[in-house]
Amino acid sequence: MNTERLISDRARAVDASGIRRIFNLAAKLEDPINLSIGQPDFAVADEIKKAAIEAIDQDKNGYTLTRGIDPLLKKINQHLKFDLGWDTDNNDNLESFVTSGTSGGLTLAFLALMGQGDEAIIPDPYFAMYPYMATIAGGKAVRCDTYPDFRMTAERVEPLITEKTKFVLYNSPGNPSGVVGTVDECRDLLDLCRSKSVLLISDEIYDEFTFKDGLTDVAKSDGKTPRCPSPARLEGGEDVLLIRGFGKTYGITGWRSGYAAGPAPVIDAMTRIHQYTYVCTPSMAQWGSLAAFDVDMTPHVDDFESRRDMVVARLSEVTEVSVPQGAFYVFVKVPERLGLTSNQFVDRCLAREVMVIPGSVFSDRDTHFRVSFSAPRAKIEQGLDIICDLMQA
Ligand SMILES: Cc1ncc(COP(=O)(O)O)c(C=O)c1O
Repeated sequence: MNTERLISDRARAVDASGIRRIFNLAAKLEDPINLSIGQPDFAVADEIKKAAIEAIDQDKNGYTLTRGIDPLLKKINQHLKFDLGWDTDNNDNLESFVTSGTSGGLTLAFLALMGQGDEAIIPDPYFAMYPYMATIAGGKAVRCDTYPDFRMTAERVEPLITEKTKFVLYNSPGNPSGVVGTVDECRDLLDLCRSKSVLLISDEIYDEFTFKDGLTDVAKSDGKTPRCPSPARLEGGEDVLLIRGFGKTYGITGWRSGYAAGPAPVIDAMTRIHQYTYVCTPSMAQWGSLAAFDVDMTPHVDDFESRRDMVVARLSEVTEVSVPQGAFYVFVKVPERLGLTSNQFVDRCLAREVMVIPGSVFSDRDTHFRVSFSAPRAKIEQGLDIICDLMQA
């Protein structure tokens, strides 16, 4: 049977060949200097592992409530209150639920909000999944060009809003740039979205990985704990759909656990689709995520910050770098005088056994590439030597 003809247009429209090309080339290398990794390189804290193992041992292996296990939901809501001042217990317009990773939350948001022909405004460069989520949902991702500083400002977004726009997707700290938006940028974007009756979705998967120079806001409840700026923390912030994850923060990306919170009608619509697709977030991952809330990740964040300093200092000598204030990536410009696209430059890196990701995976442009500093220091240094050498050629 010719099963190829059975494949839907939707599936055909999803093209992962850009990233696959790099991984196929890298597969031929024995021990590459891998600066392409999109997940933390530290070991998962024992308390988190223990909590998941205990849950399995204690036969907590069945379906959970669609919204997630009660103790985790309670913990999430406590955190939302401390962090954003959101009182989910006493505000009927606010709800939260446990998602299957950040991608799970994002997928449900696209499916719940976007219909045929609808538009969503996403940053360019973007997390590689965003445009395809729009395609899968039957709509269109409208790119907001944020070069060269990778700031998704209201000024850049406003001209892109049409009557078809359902939401603006904001991501800070950003992948692939690590750039963190300021409080003022968050406020202007939120005000714009509210004035145009467009939902603002804030993908905050890297919020706990914000470096000291990005922490320019404070938690709502105590007014002193430094936090990554979030539009959800501002006046009117209850209109924001917040999507966060446990995977990157605690090194449990394979467990598929995260949460979404925001306006009740949106969360209800997402939860209905969750019920008939993911069903629930893996049970042991939910118990592990509950324990994760009490783990102090500061030493790891500080370690990433010092790696960031090293990477930025080195690369700034040879090219344009916008300083990441969070996550563990830097988006680097291929010097124009080389006359190379990022794919061509990445091929040169691969020929010297350094793996980085070309900008075309995250952007309509092919001018930058992503370096991940989630790798051993010695490897980062080796990789930087080669990248700088290639840039000075
Ligand atoms: C900006 C951004 N959003 C969402 C995700 C998906 O995360 P998760 O593994 O929690 O689904 C990623 C993963 O790289 C990301 O970088």
